[in-house]
Amino acid sequence: MAKIRTLYFCSECGYHSPKWIGRCPGCDSWNTLVEEISEGHRKFSPESEKKARILTELITEDLPRFSSGNSELDRVLGGGIVPGSLILLGGDPGIGKSTLLLQTADSLGRQGRRVLYLSGEESPRQVKLRAERLGAQGTNIYILNEADLSFLPNFLEEVRPDVVMVDSIQTVHVPEIGSIPGSVAQLRECAGRLLELAKTSDRPFFLIGHVTKDGSLAGPKILEHMVDTVIYFEGDNNNYYRVLRTVKNRFGPANEIGILEMSGTGLIEVDNPSRIFLEHRGSLPGLTVVASFEGTRPILVEVEALVVTASIGYPRRMASGIEGNRLALLAAVLEKRGGLALGNKDIYIKVAGGANLKDPATDLGVALAIASSYYEHPVLPGGVIVGELGLSGEIRSVPFINQRLKEALKMGFSRALIPKEIRKEDLNDMDLSVFAVETLGEALRYIDGNGGMET
Ligand code: TYD
Ligand code: MG
Repeated sequence: MAKIRTLYFCSECGYHSPKWIGRCPGCDSWNTLVEEISEGHRKFSPESEKKARILTELITEDLPRFSSGNSELDRVLGGGIVPGSLILLGGDPGIGKSTLLLQTADSLGRQGRRVLYLSGEESPRQVKLRAERLGAQGTNIYILNEADLSFLPNFLEEVRPDVVMVDSIQTVHVPEIGSIPGSVAQLRECAGRLLELAKTSDRPFFLIGHVTKDGSLAGPKILEHMVDTVIYFEGDNNNYYRVLRTVKNRFGPANEIGILEMSGTGLIEVDNPSRIFLEHRGSLPGLTVVASFEGTRPILVEVEALVVTASIGYPRRMASGIEGNRLALLAAVLEKRGGLALGNKDIYIKVAGGANLKDPATDLGVALAIASSYYEHPVLPGGVIVGELGLSGEIRSVPFINQRLKEALKMGFSRALIPKEIRKEDLNDMDLSVFAVETLGEALRYIDGNGGMET
């Protein structure tokens, strides 16, 4: 066999060298050279087993998906597992990635599918303990404690699994690359090989990837580019709810979320997510309910704000569940267009259940939570608030009004504050008192005691 050579490529400018150099002679960047296997002289082969196919034929062909046995995981995958796909499951240590995959392996096993679970992170004994806790059956699950990926094709041959799980990508390696497991060069090469194995064998591969402290998957963005689907597993240690979030999906919508609850015996699907993001349901000052669109469905979420006089100096703006910049912007609009004197106030925002609000349609609800705390009066009790807030204080229309309001009805809300500029047919057959507003000034009148209509 020809000897495999490796070369070092600069990830900035593409300069290559047979040896590692700290500073790239091509672009003068430091520590940018990454080892890669040299492909030698590229050649074109005269024949290929592949065939170019007409697009119309491809379009009519359904993706042959199968269920993971977990409705929330299926949802974030875009409707089930696609054969031959490479799926990256990222998340903080301890969030429940191994638990989710082992449970999935168990349900796949019960469906009669064979799973090869490569565990570089834990010993077979540790996997056994977890399996016992989960009540896993285990007849179709093969646990492999081998970190060297070059042996994987043999095991695929021997076990003939339907699904392969790698826990984790940071613990596997190939011997041709000198650097340690988890290094950029190893991650790249390992992910590349797994991708090839997934595509050539038409088996789905799940990869677990740890997230670094700054929140990105270790081994920068390279893994995200290589795989078909990237799912993040989020949640905080103070509650049991876990959110699966699709950040990339070649086989379905991105931004889809799935919600699970960590119990003493594994993860349970949460079938009514609005329930967990609504905590008090009362009408308290500083409290509003927004209808946030997450992926393909609306979820009602409670937002709490607290506005207090700042003790000294610079006022604080602290938010969990919405971005700090967005809070600063909403506060500025409230100050300028709503006439609230927030310059000497601290503002705190808390979103229930550890949800993370990004949908602009939740602007108005967050802004009114702040105003409601500022005035110390509740806003539209028993109501849901929907609308995007522009910099000049205008309330903008948002998509999917109808679905958002239906979710509110389902959750027992009787009223809604919405943008004026919406289509009438979106409100058809809605057994809900709807109040439409055009500006922030009008919306502020729905705070009790502010001279609004419904006080
Ligand atoms: P784990 O799947 O090991 O996390 P990761 O692979 O993302 O690092 O999950 C670890 C946590 O989950 C640990 O704190 C124990 C808890 N856990 C439960 O609460 N219930 C269970 O049934 C299991 C298996 C774990
Ligand atoms: Mg783990």
